[in-house]
Amino acid sequence: MADSKRYYITTPIYYASGDLHIGHSYTTLAADAISRYKRLRGYDVFFLTGTDEHGLKIQRKAESLGKEPKEFVDEIVAKIKELWRTLEITYDGFIRTTDEQHVQTVQWVFQKLFDNQDIYKKNYESWYCVGCESFFTETQARAFPDMVCPDHGKPLERVQEESYFFRLSKYQDRLLQYIESHPDFIQPVSRRNEVVQFVKSGLEDLCISRTSFDWGIRVPFDPSSVVYVWIDALTNYISAMGYPHDRERFEKWWPADVHLIGKEILRFHAVIWPILLMALDLPLPKQVFAHGWLNLGGKKMSKTMGNVVDPIELTRKYGLDAVRYFVLREVPFGADGDYTEDALVARINSDLANDLGNLAYRTLTMVKKFSGGLVPAPGREEEADRAFRDKCVTLKGRVEKELDALHLSSALEEIMAVVGAANKYIDTASPWDLAKTNDSRLGTVLYGLCECLRIVSQLLRPFMVRTPGLIWSSLGMPESIDNADWDSAGTWGVCKEGQVTRRGKPLFPRIEDKEQEAEPVDRPAGQSPVTGSQEKAEGLEPSAASTPRPRASTDQPIGTINIEEFRKVDLRVATVLTCSRIKGADKLYRLEIDLGTEQTQIVAGIAVFYSPEELVGKQIVVVKNLEPAVIRGVKSNGMLLAAKSGNELTVLTVDRKIPNGTRIS
Ligand code: MSP
Repeated sequence: MADSKRYYITTPIYYASGDLHIGHSYTTLAADAISRYKRLRGYDVFFLTGTDEHGLKIQRKAESLGKEPKEFVDEIVAKIKELWRTLEITYDGFIRTTDEQHVQTVQWVFQKLFDNQDIYKKNYESWYCVGCESFFTETQARAFPDMVCPDHGKPLERVQEESYFFRLSKYQDRLLQYIESHPDFIQPVSRRNEVVQFVKSGLEDLCISRTSFDWGIRVPFDPSSVVYVWIDALTNYISAMGYPHDRERFEKWWPADVHLIGKEILRFHAVIWPILLMALDLPLPKQVFAHGWLNLGGKKMSKTMGNVVDPIELTRKYGLDAVRYFVLREVPFGADGDYTEDALVARINSDLANDLGNLAYRTLTMVKKFSGGLVPAPGREEEADRAFRDKCVTLKGRVEKELDALHLSSALEEIMAVVGAANKYIDTASPWDLAKTNDSRLGTVLYGLCECLRIVSQLLRPFMVRTPGLIWSSLGMPESIDNADWDSAGTWGVCKEGQVTRRGKPLFPRIEDKEQEAEPVDRPAGQSPVTGSQEKAEGLEPSAASTPRPRASTDQPIGTINIEEFRKVDLRVATVLTCSRIKGADKLYRLEIDLGTEQTQIVAGIAVFYSPEELVGKQIVVVKNLEPAVIRGVKSNGMLLAAKSGNELTVLTVDRKIPNGTRIS
């Protein structure tokens, strides 16, 4: 009997017919996150992925390139493995359907089904889609416009062969009973209902051999036939675990805990596969979870449709953790979702730069400024501090609940909700005011923020591969995060007073929009894309932030706005405290400004018009609520106002002195 602390998870085995895209990576990244999570929880995990290498589709593709099928698939498999290396997929097994052991298992299975009279031979005529490697009845085929497969856009082919058939119909009632008595077997529930309807409509026996091509596994007792590619492929889940030859290994791992699949291959996994297992007298997998599609331009991203996004390119451009985060956060696991690059950039900017990156940066900056860079001891405590602590320590339970149900996106949502709460906590607790009055609550707030970051870093480990360690080590934790015990994410007090923190570069600098790409955007060490500009970021101050954006031509007429629209712009008076040039950027200054309730910094492109001495001490007008941005590696938390005419520029100031932070309306 399988050990309850072991966990066996699989992805579909991908067709070795071309390069994989971000849609395929989606399933594999999800399986990777779940595997990492289970390992962190102490499970002995086996995460299986691999390649589906036989069939007419692959044979034809190889022929079209003048290659032997094996030579062709070997090249594709090498690329797929390279992709998984790039995405840091932690699979434990990679099965290829051309592996000798797998071939033997498939033949053994075929023979056994034949011996048990679950397979019989008959003359067969049907329609076939090579893209799906799937048969269609006359009625199904005629339902497609022009008899063209809607998924692959190619005409169905007529198949007429003497073939072997698998008695699916014999198992119809048993399967229905099983599905009905095991509510978790097919998830999500909507998919389960779909399968129940399909089975109830009546199962036809399945053609499971082909004679018109030979790139496949030979039927053991009839070498003129090859085994139908789906029977070959599905068997991977047991052949990889030693079935039938290595009993001990097989019994350790089977039944699988979950087969993760895309919804288009649900029937193969929720009808054919369980019946095949019943016929072999083997237990069924505990769950088949069918997720939705990543669409591009409203259609399923697919090689055949040509609307694909290359995951390696994406990782180079935006960094691995950002891509992993986006893919797992953007779409509720189970539903369909649209991929757009704008959505990816929006996620990076809002969740990772503004929320997570900013929280780490603000916290470490304040620890540096108010506590000499050392984790402080907590002091006086208020109700808000207790509430915040409670939110942090209970986060682990909420994340576990979501992850146990495979709700990956919701788990990330829970984590980001605490990150958002922490940023608000900073704003309301106002550490800079506590510092002014030497209030011991300052220690409580800063300590709480360090603990929050520590917990968040631990809980992000299933999803991200660099960021958790970067946050963890920036807090001065003595041991590597790899040795951290998952359960400690549910406790308080792990950061020790006096730990030496280290504020590195911002974790996720904002990705500028197209207009702003003129100014190169920095990326911090851990998130570096493989290519792209790499300028040094220098030290920044904490809190809300932003950037001067290239200004649209002021001569353009602008339509009217109403007062509500105008009120959305938070204009404030601020005094310039310091002004310095930014290395390598002739036109830019970094200004530290006093906004009354906080001190922050902005970047301004006015260096050719003013000397630093002219600006320091001036009261200027600043857009305080402009989205933060990083320009030439320097974070800008707002924008000063200036008027420009030809070669002249003047910075807006106030007519009479007024307290910093005063709102302009
Ligand atoms: N070889 C079969 C599976 C056999 S499993 C015993 C196959 N291969 S495939 O290369 O077409 O990959 C299919 C899987 O890739 C889907 O089930 C899904 O998990 C994933 N995806 C491929 N395109 C996808 C999207 N556009 N969106 C989400 N997942 C996608 O079918």
